[in-house]
Amino acid sequence: MKKKLISGFYKLGVKERVKILNEMGIISCEERCSLERQNQILSLNEADKMVENVIGVFGLPLAIASDFLLNDKNYFVPMVVEEPSVVAGVNNAAKIIKSSGGFKSELRNSLLVGQIQIRNLKDTAQAKKILQQNKSNLIEKANELIPRLNKRGGGVKDIDIREVNIQNRLDLVLHLHVNTADAMGANLVNTVCEGLSDAIEGMITGNVGLKILSNYTDQSLVKVEIEIHPDLLEKNEFTGIEVRDGIIDACDFANADPYRAVTHNKGIMNGIDAVAIATGNDWRAIEAAAHAYASSTGRYKSLSNWDICDNGNLKGELLMPIKVGIVGGSLSANPASRMGLNITKVDSATELSELIGAVGLAQNFAALRALATNGIQQAHMKLHARSVALSAGIPEEYFSEVIKDMINSKEIKKWKAQELLEKKLSERNKIKLQDKKKIVGSASAKFILLGEHAVVYDQYAIAYPINDAVKISINDQEKNLAFTLSGFLEQEISEGSEYFSYFKKLLDVICNSFAVDVPLVRFDINSQVPLAMGLGASASIAVALSNVLNNYFGLSKNSEEINKIAFECEKINHIQPSGIDNTVASFGKAVFYNKNKPINVLSKKYSKSLPIIIAMSKSPSKTSDLVTSVADARNKNKELFEKIFDQMGEISQQGLDAIKKENFNQLGDLMNIYQGLLNSIGVSTPELESMIDIARSSGALGAKLTGSGGGGSIIALCPDHQIEVRNCLNRAGYQTIVTNKDND
Ligand code: MEV
Repeated sequence: MKKKLISGFYKLGVKERVKILNEMGIISCEERCSLERQNQILSLNEADKMVENVIGVFGLPLAIASDFLLNDKNYFVPMVVEEPSVVAGVNNAAKIIKSSGGFKSELRNSLLVGQIQIRNLKDTAQAKKILQQNKSNLIEKANELIPRLNKRGGGVKDIDIREVNIQNRLDLVLHLHVNTADAMGANLVNTVCEGLSDAIEGMITGNVGLKILSNYTDQSLVKVEIEIHPDLLEKNEFTGIEVRDGIIDACDFANADPYRAVTHNKGIMNGIDAVAIATGNDWRAIEAAAHAYASSTGRYKSLSNWDICDNGNLKGELLMPIKVGIVGGSLSANPASRMGLNITKVDSATELSELIGAVGLAQNFAALRALATNGIQQAHMKLHARSVALSAGIPEEYFSEVIKDMINSKEIKKWKAQELLEKKLSERNKIKLQDKKKIVGSASAKFILLGEHAVVYDQYAIAYPINDAVKISINDQEKNLAFTLSGFLEQEISEGSEYFSYFKKLLDVICNSFAVDVPLVRFDINSQVPLAMGLGASASIAVALSNVLNNYFGLSKNSEEINKIAFECEKINHIQPSGIDNTVASFGKAVFYNKNKPINVLSKKYSKSLPIIIAMSKSPSKTSDLVTSVADARNKNKELFEKIFDQMGEISQQGLDAIKKENFNQLGDLMNIYQGLLNSIGVSTPELESMIDIARSSGALGAKLTGSGGGGSIIALCPDHQIEVRNCLNRAGYQTIVTNKDND
């Protein structure tokens, strides 16, 4: 395994992160695949077997912290947690600690205590004596109850007999000290406690009361130590020495005041619980033991300790009970826990306890360093604002600006994010109004309702416009050929860049057809649809460019002429364009299209927009690649493919009929069947299928990919449940476009 994640891991998309972890050997190909398909998560069926009255499965983010150098071994740590700054804090802390030599961590012992209470004793002293005499006998009997654990080197190692005064009654409590090997051990210990009851009652005159493990695991103490040079502690305007002293001071505060100590320890548990959950361990047990241990001196104190070494370094230490397992329990039942455990690559429960302790200390360090400097809110706010902006569905182009404005407004709320977005959109519209005098050209993008791919093989397809998706204006102040990009394409564009030469090629084709020279002006291109999303953005740009030049040169070309030019432009991008994209872009109307027949624009009555939601996947779709791959597949199975294309054409015909009758149920069914056929010719992907599944299960009558597939977009027909479908897709991280404005 390589030692370090690439820098900027946090800036990548989820898919890319998963790919990198697989390439680094941290997750297997199978695990990568199940993460990509989101089927590593506990299924409803499995959940139903775990507890009663199940109605669903609950999700939380699963993240990775890297750079954990512990006892000279490097670890990647899975963390399940919803609080924004926890993973970022741990990650950053682990990096600093790694540069200082890493963590030293040691689990002292790993015993779990089982308690057997003995009540109603006539002579407590006598009973205690008898039990003492029978101690080896009891240990032997106990171990007979757990032969498999004995084989794994575990078992009952010792028994203590304690006197406990309960309401002025002196009971005896047997403590069985059990080495549970790699298991968490709760069930094993309970089995032994219950199994010894009869033998105990046969020895003395008293009754066995409660018989159960103790979660006070003070015989499973992890000690973690780190030492950090002050130079590595510097933060913003604070020197390393100031930060070091601030951390020590914060720890003294926790030791002096339980109100602070609880928060201090909660920070430690932020890290510990996140790993315990990700690896399928009982975090409530760890929590209970931690807080009991924090009070073991009779006063609730910090679980960590921070001090100065003789050499001036900051020394951090954590000592607390952490009893976990790597076999049994929910680990065998929950596939997500198995994956979490695999990511740690630990070989034993002892090693996992040591790693979890290190994460706890890292989290404490991160929190105290933040508190001792600019305070916790700064980082918290940024991360919190990020997740709020995500849940408010803020588009990528406005994302960072909305986060910044939200933080400044101190209102990190979904409504605020939406309000800020509205403001930005209306500012943009104002700018557009100011630009009214400029020479402009616009064009529609499109979505294919039915008929993609088959349309290349002479079948009918139905496509609808996405009105005014691309708008281009000409600015001729600078006498220089230049382009600016905004909207979905927003980026800097310089001469020689890929975009520049692409737009220049389009201009050459258009100006050649218009018999004019390419003008030395700036084209300001705004696109409300991204390229390579199956929405005809490239044809829309070609038509909008033709339209703006048509206006600029005062040529009065009609839509048919523009369409012919745009078709030539499409050939730059696509090997075998069917012509449907440029036709919809040029006419801005819904079409029933066959590439060999005259253009059939749907009458106004039927071209009224459908209640369609478009959702964009995270993967681009390259039409030419997909058309080529379908052509290759068709060459292998020509007859079969011809039949599939015939069926596709038939579905488009029936689709037109359903549109005319406004029979949305039938149209939805046809879309679903068409999706099955698209899948059969190999153009769907797991991501598209999952989006389609989200749309259908949240109320869409029909859903399918649209365009060439292999990525790109899906469409969902939603005469009802529009908001639900949109919200569900947004929540799953997909941007949506609603098209139910009339197209005329
Ligand atoms: C927040 O979840 C945890 C902290 O409050 C811990 C601490 O104050 O040390 C930041």
